[in-house]
Amino acid sequence: MAHTEQLDEQSAIALLRWYADMGVDEAVGTAPADLYSWGSPAPETTTAPQVSTLKNQPPATPVFKADTEIVSTDEAIEKAKRAAMACESYEALEAAIDAFEDCPLKAGAKNTVFADGVPGADLLVIGEGPGRDEDRLGKPFVGRAGQLLDRMLAAIGRDRTENTLISNVVYWRPPGNRTPTQAETAVCRPFVDRLIELTAPKAIVLAGGAPMQALLGITGIMRARGTWREIETPDGARYPALPIFHPAFLLRQPANKRLAWADLQALEAKLRES
Ligand code: URA
Repeated sequence: MAHTEQLDEQSAIALLRWYADMGVDEAVGTAPADLYSWGSPAPETTTAPQVSTLKNQPPATPVFKADTEIVSTDEAIEKAKRAAMACESYEALEAAIDAFEDCPLKAGAKNTVFADGVPGADLLVIGEGPGRDEDRLGKPFVGRAGQLLDRMLAAIGRDRTENTLISNVVYWRPPGNRTPTQAETAVCRPFVDRLIELTAPKAIVLAGGAPMQALLGITGIMRARGTWREIETPDGARYPALPIFHPAFLLRQPANKRLAWADLQALEAKLRES
């Protein structure tokens, strides 16, 4: 893209918004670079390349100077475990997540999105990850999907202001609203586990395939929804967990609301058990 014309303010803002939505999270140069004009890499040679052969070739490896130390996924998971295990309250957990610098998603997000609702509620809903509205407001499930989730919960007498806690398997918006990767969910997992331990809910709802895969290690929401399973936390406690369709999926495919309603009724029955 070799744009040289001046953009007016509105167009520049629209372009920046589009970049942000597409997941662009870092400026690596002050001028646009046309990667296609660089051609294919030079063939390997044992003699020192002449200056002329380097013309029109890309620089060998771009060097980016990181502001923070980059750690491996395993190290990041260990750091998250240590940070999460030290938390004895929601406030401490929220502060620990906010201070955590080793999830790569954080660099591209405006806000840390921790949880919303009633601490200690007997129902914990865990979604996939913040979207654009959640990133902007720093709260989970506040966009259109969140509004549908609220209506679904209301249908069984549940409300995040009274008796439900809502969170996600990652705490920062994945660029362009993509599904979080396994590495990203693995790094956040110790915090999710600690949130479950501190909440000790009667039931956990996994809203969508991503939280189901991250916390139960299974795929295929179409088959797995509506069947109770268990999540075991590091302290050895076990919690009933119900995968359901993600509300964003139901917005796209409303015919599946019938199945979602059956799942909500199963949830209500579980919550009524003594
Ligand atoms: N979708 C999710 O899974 N989580 C949110 O917080 C918002 C939308």
